[in-house]
Amino acid sequence: MKGLILAAGRGTRLRPLTHTRPKPVIRVAGRPIIHYALENLKGAGVREIGVVVSPDTHGDVQAALNGVAGVEVSYVLQEEPQGLAHAVGVARTWLQDDPFVLYLGDNLFERGIAPFVEAFRRGGPAAVVALARVEDPRQFGVAQVEGSRILRLIEKPAEPPSDLAVAGVYVFDTRIHDLIEGLEPSARGEYEITDAIQRLIDDGHEVQGLPIEGWWKDTGRAEDLLDANRLLLAGIEPGNDGHVEESRLIGRVVIEKGATVRRSTVMGPALIAADSLVEDAFVGPFTAVGPGAEVRGSEVEYSIVADRAVIEDVPTRLQECVIGVGARVTSRAGLPRAHRLVLGDESRVEIG
Ligand code: G1P
Repeated sequence: MKGLILAAGRGTRLRPLTHTRPKPVIRVAGRPIIHYALENLKGAGVREIGVVVSPDTHGDVQAALNGVAGVEVSYVLQEEPQGLAHAVGVARTWLQDDPFVLYLGDNLFERGIAPFVEAFRRGGPAAVVALARVEDPRQFGVAQVEGSRILRLIEKPAEPPSDLAVAGVYVFDTRIHDLIEGLEPSARGEYEITDAIQRLIDDGHEVQGLPIEGWWKDTGRAEDLLDANRLLLAGIEPGNDGHVEESRLIGRVVIEKGATVRRSTVMGPALIAADSLVEDAFVGPFTAVGPGAEVRGSEVEYSIVADRAVIEDVPTRLQECVIGVGARVTSRAGLPRAHRLVLGDESRVEIG
């Protein structure tokens, strides 16, 4: 069994963060999202892993996976992102005739993916698809089921036949490849894996829909990143490998090596990553302060502060923020009392 992680997408809904780096390398609860995918594949006994990258994402994804142990990683280049089925087609040579787990690199699963691999290994279905109940299925692939059997799959339907969304993990054998070859692009101009699976069903093969256990997150939007950060931080084991001076640590707080917390309150669950500085500050629940970041004279909660970002002397508490790598949020003294912003394309600021 091989694993195929897709990490070639443009992540348009996460701009401006994805202008400069691909979504799977954005840190959530301190780790690039794609690390969780590798871990889950490893946990399901899959160690031979192909990562589909684009010319734009290749370097960043490779850097994020550098030094990851216990798996053998290969890279497959997809020149143009033309959909999930297209990505599988591009990886056809690498996959050979092995069964494989298709794993969307921006998806997070609380309890891993072993049940899907096991269901497939038990024999029977031509494919296993992870399903999750969601409030608004219109933004996902949606399944109509009878028991555990999927009867119909529709990509982003205006009128969903159920609330069962296709979560980003599928297990296939070689039968999917021929069906991918015959696909036409969908209304959004992509070769949809959903359509290929529908063909599998139409050909009379059994496609099993298996409900996920625990939570599942597709990290498409900034709100999803923050929610995923919250869910992952809720499970961290507290520990202090840094320096803490005249500070209060409340609840589950992780302070990594080289980090300094001085004259501050950190209310968990929170992560203060390696070599970061928290000084005269309040870091509130569900916040991850990235490596080398600084929070000084400020309050921040329910936020992601990425690597080397700086928050300094901000007079209002920051909440629900995603501060990108190297970004700076500071205050200015003197007149005129005005906000001075230098924002990248498609940035979002809410001033309260
Ligand atoms: C893709 C799939 C969709 C699935 C979703 C899960 O959508 O096409 O069927 O429900 O991933 O994250 P996309 O993220 O490309 O919009």
